[in-house]
Amino acid sequence: MAWVIKMCRKDFPFLSKNISDELIYLDSAATSQKPNSVIQKLHDFYSYEYAPVHRGIYSLGEKSTIVYEDVRRKIKNFIGASDACEVIFTKGTTEGINFVATAWAQKHLKKGDEIVLTHLEHHSNLIPWQQIALKKGVILKFIPITKDGYLDLTNLDQIITKKTKLVSFAHVSNVLGTHAPVKKIVSAAKSVGAKVLIDAAQSSPHKKIDVKSLDCDFLVFSSHKMLGPSGVGILYIKKSIQDEVAPYQFGGSMVCEVFYDQSTFQQPPYRYEAGTPPIAQVVGLGAAIDYYKDNIGWESLKNHEASLCTRTIDGLSQFEQIRILGPVEQLKNSGHLVSFVVEDVFDVHAHDVAAYLDTKNICVRAGHHCAQPLHKELGIKASIRVSFHVYNTLKEVELFLFAIEQMLK
Ligand SMILES: Cc1ncc(COP(=O)(O)O)c(C=O)c1O
Repeated sequence: MAWVIKMCRKDFPFLSKNISDELIYLDSAATSQKPNSVIQKLHDFYSYEYAPVHRGIYSLGEKSTIVYEDVRRKIKNFIGASDACEVIFTKGTTEGINFVATAWAQKHLKKGDEIVLTHLEHHSNLIPWQQIALKKGVILKFIPITKDGYLDLTNLDQIITKKTKLVSFAHVSNVLGTHAPVKKIVSAAKSVGAKVLIDAAQSSPHKKIDVKSLDCDFLVFSSHKMLGPSGVGILYIKKSIQDEVAPYQFGGSMVCEVFYDQSTFQQPPYRYEAGTPPIAQVVGLGAAIDYYKDNIGWESLKNHEASLCTRTIDGLSQFEQIRILGPVEQLKNSGHLVSFVVEDVFDVHAHDVAAYLDTKNICVRAGHHCAQPLHKELGIKASIRVSFHVYNTLKEVELFLFAIEQMLK
């Protein structure tokens, strides 16, 4: 694996050139760095191949459309979908969830119906449902967490009931790194006929996604966390429920025929992609998928990131002022992030820790990580999160631990 990582680091100009020679980037759960192949693809596409898709009756436009649709097929294979029409290009995870809330839940849920979430959710998988609850009189219920940061399924049969119409949860938590017990949750949801949405923002960059074995109806993720460009993401909608999902936005590209008083719409996926899509970003995402395919094995990635988490946890555990959040054993086995707080005589604010680390050229995330309710539940205002990707090394973890030791002194 060391060989893979060494070979891989040189693919990321951010890590091998300019000021970032000395920069330690431990914030990939927020957004990842990009390999040369993605940057080059964007450069080449914009330089020589750029044209509108699904419109130009000229070779360049046709070529651009072929490249764009080819990425859709790549994603279909990447996530194990049955048909390319199940892959919808969005702006990202947040838009994907808002899409389902507006285009499906808004229409199909009624007063008294229930949506089940978990206490681990990112605001993106909470606030859209709060809005549906406010507008429709739908009730939100939550799967709680245990003291160790696992999802607590003890009372699952009282949380997911016949009233449940949707269960929506993070595959992997962006704060605690908890991996959701998908099979148990999905089978409880299916047993009452509820739809399932999986927020794969934190899982798709680090583990194989297979929508068939996950047995979900919707799945969302963002390109920018998985080595691809920002501004594009994926919404998977299972083909068999697409009749229930209305268009999310209306305008160009998604229509068959338009009159002054009414319009007819295309079949999926086009009916779900109104307006000019993020063409170059989709092409860049295709290059990121190729990079995963050609350079990253899921098992080696997992082992590598787990070894970085293990060293981080063991190192931080030496300091009595530090409290590690989350399911430590699971993180040591398959994590890609570690969150913690510094509890000294005076609590040290997470922002101060991040600012100190910044003086040592170490980038970490500090704050509530878009999960304020979870932080409130943990009895803290903010935490510090270090997160990894394929390009991080044990040496970086050692330098981070050394900086923390210096700070505590
Ligand atoms: C679990 C989770 N869900 C949703 C999001 C939102 O993703 P985006 O900002 O790319 O839409 C994030 C981003 O951090 C996340 O970690």
